[in-house]
Amino acid sequence: MSLTDTSISSVLQEERLIHPPPAFSNEAHVSSLRKLKALRKQAAADIYAFWEERARALDWFAPWRSTCEWKYPRAKWFVGGKLNVAHNCLDRHVAGWRRNKAAIIWEGEPGDTRTLTYQALFTQVCKFANVLKGLGVKRGDVVAIYMGMLPEAAIAMLACARIGATHTVVFGGFSADALRERINDSKAVCVVTQDDAYRRGQSIALKEAVDEAVKKSATVRKVVVLRRSGVEVRMKSRRDHWWHELMADASPIASAPALNSEHPLFILYTSGSTGKPKGILHTTGGYLTQAAYTTKMVFDLREDDLYFCTADVGWITGHSYIVYGPLANGASLFMYEGAPNHPEPDRFWDMIARHRITIFYTAPTAIRAFMKWGDKHPRRHDLSSLRLLGTVGEPINPEAWMWYHRVIGGGRCPIVDTWWQTETGAIMISPLPGATPLKPGTATLPLPGIDADVVRRDGSPCDVNEGGYLVVKQPWPSMLRTVFGDFQRYKKTYWSEYPPQKDGRPAYYFTGDGARRDADGYIWIMGRVDDVVNVSGHRLGTAEIESALVSHQSVAEAAVVARPDDVKGNALVAFVTLKGQAKQSARAVEKLRSALRNHVGGEIGHIARPDEIRFTDALPKTRSGKIMRRLLREIAAGGSITGDTTTLEDFSVLERLREADDDA
Ligand code: WTA
Repeated sequence: MSLTDTSISSVLQEERLIHPPPAFSNEAHVSSLRKLKALRKQAAADIYAFWEERARALDWFAPWRSTCEWKYPRAKWFVGGKLNVAHNCLDRHVAGWRRNKAAIIWEGEPGDTRTLTYQALFTQVCKFANVLKGLGVKRGDVVAIYMGMLPEAAIAMLACARIGATHTVVFGGFSADALRERINDSKAVCVVTQDDAYRRGQSIALKEAVDEAVKKSATVRKVVVLRRSGVEVRMKSRRDHWWHELMADASPIASAPALNSEHPLFILYTSGSTGKPKGILHTTGGYLTQAAYTTKMVFDLREDDLYFCTADVGWITGHSYIVYGPLANGASLFMYEGAPNHPEPDRFWDMIARHRITIFYTAPTAIRAFMKWGDKHPRRHDLSSLRLLGTVGEPINPEAWMWYHRVIGGGRCPIVDTWWQTETGAIMISPLPGATPLKPGTATLPLPGIDADVVRRDGSPCDVNEGGYLVVKQPWPSMLRTVFGDFQRYKKTYWSEYPPQKDGRPAYYFTGDGARRDADGYIWIMGRVDDVVNVSGHRLGTAEIESALVSHQSVAEAAVVARPDDVKGNALVAFVTLKGQAKQSARAVEKLRSALRNHVGGEIGHIARPDEIRFTDALPKTRSGKIMRRLLREIAAGGSITGDTTTLEDFSVLERLREADDDA
């Protein structure tokens, strides 16, 4: 990854300041800025003591010997401590009055609903833990979960956690090829899936994709299939089993063994700037400590809340803020299966009104879509139950923030803009809603216990409003432990931009995000500085999309960049050179465009399909042969080339690219 190609300049100046409403603050866990500052000071004075206190909110079967062992770039938290994540999310709640509290209130896309109390969820998890054991899944084995948004996805995750199997959830929107790659990389022995999933009234054939993905798998021995729609699927004898048949015979009694704090809880794949996706590995004690703590503080969770996070369990937000964080706190969570605009664009508002949801956590791309669909949809519903809103996934533009605040929050709900990553495991930078004065467009300040900063290339802190790189200066409990199977890649990607210095300065964790701090210390994220783009809140490595394009028989070379898009945040533009340059008819070109888009859809998944494909006879390159993406980005955005072009090898390419632009 090169940082030299990236000039960071900040154009955004936002002056509005929105204070927490007194009625909210009075009831909040942290009720004033003064108290938040005191907490931050306490954490800074002894960061390990601070996190120890948070860890004590969990049930431990054995205490830890040391809080954090940090040997660059290897971190261990609560070493020697023993616990079980499922025990923390279930057993300790069913031992008391929460037994009868709703854990999951679920609504299917067609409108069917289910409610699982903590007792019911506990029973299902114990049974499925026994099912997995019965299929030969052992502690340390990897189980792939490829499902839609059903309570059973959470049940499968918790059952893995209970027996010490490591889960890898693969987003149901990924293709069979992407699933195969993740199954092979993680060496999964078992796949949990469903017949098909509902999405916008259509059905997505998940079992079929699994069949395709495990055809030549050397590791997968068992496939468990949940029946959702009832569509006929082919079951391979001995390998495939129906969920309901196995569950009918399973015992509801399953112990929760004491697992090491550093036991691997899950692997979650995320895009990198080069090559294949990275299997981000999270472990047990540190992860759950920070997921539970941040859920409670950032969402100011109360016993009577009904909390709705619109993410999919296939992303980190679904792991930390649908399943583990809320359940560790004994919260009631609302889970929805389908699309936000099915059957009508008011689906979310309709559900908020019917279920009296109190906390709503979504992504800026969704908010921009809601804005586009119009105020009339939320206006038709009574949203007065809402008391707190949240966003995650990308910078939120101040206008979308104001709309969210006014139209959805009725001007009375604080908004928590939460910055974090798959790698950080839990929220790192965020307001606390009862304490932090908000500015639209910024995630505000690092949470207590998190030492994040904006620094220059040489590691020195940036001045006020000077653009730089967002780093984390001290390890934190829920940080990734490695890239599964590739420790060198872990070290290189995250810990080599700012390695430890001879003068004693420790290594900094490199986030890959550009940022600036304003005069109040608020951190404004300016986007990625590497070749990772954020489309509709999903991180995509442009390198992956490029290799998918190049794997098409007609393509010689491809470069993918992002250009700003009103709704998706970014749209993907692919510059493609073809093998052989024979002039083709306009119809043939159009046909090839759609073939390439479908090809990428098949290789990676529909979210990665380029919005625009431009054919060109050459790509702008440096003398050393590196594609000059900055130029392509400028061309894609429709602007003129402003930056330095002195390293460009062939100037005429630029002219030809502009011509390609006219064709597009
Ligand atoms: C971006 C999602 C601005 C950022 C939890 C980060 C954000 C990447 C915010 C991680 C935010 C996430 N403001 N940018 N509040 N939250 N990002 O791994 O670029 O899917 O590095 O994790 O999303 O994406 P990931």
